[in-house]
Amino acid sequence: MHSAPNLVLVGPMGAGKSSIGRRIAARFGLAFVDIDQEIEQRTGARISMIFECEGEAGFRARERATLADILVGSRQVIATGGGAVLDPGNRSLLRARGFVVHMHADIDTQLTRLARDRTRPLLAGDNPVEVLRRLAAERAPLYAECAHLRFDTGPHACNEATAQLGHLI
Ligand code: S3P
Repeated sequence: MHSAPNLVLVGPMGAGKSSIGRRIAARFGLAFVDIDQEIEQRTGARISMIFECEGEAGFRARERATLADILVGSRQVIATGGGAVLDPGNRSLLRARGFVVHMHADIDTQLTRLARDRTRPLLAGDNPVEVLRRLAAERAPLYAECAHLRFDTGPHACNEATAQLGHLI
C-alpha cells in the first residue's frame, strides 16, 4: 500500500488510462475520475467543441482548473488527458497529490485503440500517425519527469494491468 492519496494515470491517447483506471477503481472500491469527462460535465460541452470555440489554450486552462479541484480529494483513481503533463504546475501537483503511473503504449497499439475515435481534436487531421509520433517525442520527457512508475500497457491484458496497478494505492 502506497501512502499517496490518489492513483494518477498519465500517458498518451489510447494508452488505456480511462479503461484500466475505471476497472482499478471498481475492483478496489475507489472513486474514478476521468478529467476529460469531468470537464465535459462541468461545461456541458464536448472536448472537441471546447477546442473549436476556445482553442487549445482555453481547453488547457479548463484542464488545469479541473485537475486542481479534483486533486484536493483522495482515494481516487484519476485518468488525466494526454496533454495534462504539458503544464509544469500540473506535473508537480500530480506528483504531490498522487502516485503517478505513466501508461505507455507504442504507436501501433494506440492506433488500434483509437481507430474509430472521432472525439480527439488533435487527431482530426489527415495524418494521425504523424501527430502521435510528434506528441510522443515531445512529451516522453514530461511523462518521465512526472511519473513515479512507467507501465507498458501494450502487452498486458486489462485484467492483469488492473491487478498490478491496483496495489499501488
Ligand atoms: C489530449 C488528449 C485527450 C484530451 C484532449 C487532448 C492530448 O485525452 O485531453 O483531446 O493533448 O493528448 P486522452 O489522453 O484521454 O485521449
